[in-house]
Amino acid sequence: MQTATLPPKTKQTKTDPASAAGLSNANTGLRSFSLNVNGTERTLNLAPWTTLLDALREYMDLTGTKKGCDHGQCGACTVLVNGKRINACLSLAIMHEGNQITTIEGIANQTETGGLHPLQQAFIEHDAFQCGYCTPGQICSAIGMINEGRAKTTDDIKELMSGNLCRCGAYPHIIDAIKTVL
Ligand code: FES
Ligand code: FES
Repeated sequence: MQTATLPPKTKQTKTDPASAAGLSNANTGLRSFSLNVNGTERTLNLAPWTTLLDALREYMDLTGTKKGCDHGQCGACTVLVNGKRINACLSLAIMHEGNQITTIEGIANQTETGGLHPLQQAFIEHDAFQCGYCTPGQICSAIGMINEGRAKTTDDIKELMSGNLCRCGAYPHIIDAIKTVL
């Protein structure tokens, strides 16, 4: 089974435009904190109400995590936090200081030999997407589900992946791909 965490590798800093303009955190309400994303420690200066999804996409240039509904109803924003799947649109970035966050950009190089994660390869081999918009969330969610160890049958997969919607209706192929990695 693949784990969803990597040791810290490097340290990067990115600041909000207000800080770049010379405004202090006291004046802007910004907070300085760091997040470990895909094994890299990132220092951020953000409003404390910034969601993890917006922090990833808008301030860390990690746009593989998708924004669908922004209300916890589609699963497009699913990422892994300490190996557990969460909807990044429903969680504040500042809550995750000290956690190991893994996005779709960090999935591939977790394999010992590098290259694609077995689930990514299975999605390709089973043609488990059309537009691909839901795919990063589907893959992160499936890894989280596998980590949970509760899925034993096709019906289990359907139920436990029901939070990840696919408007292209690729569900049969998605399930086939997941079954090859279970
Ligand atoms: S964007 Fe987060 S659940 Fe839809
Ligand atoms: S492949 Fe298009 S939304 Fe799932």
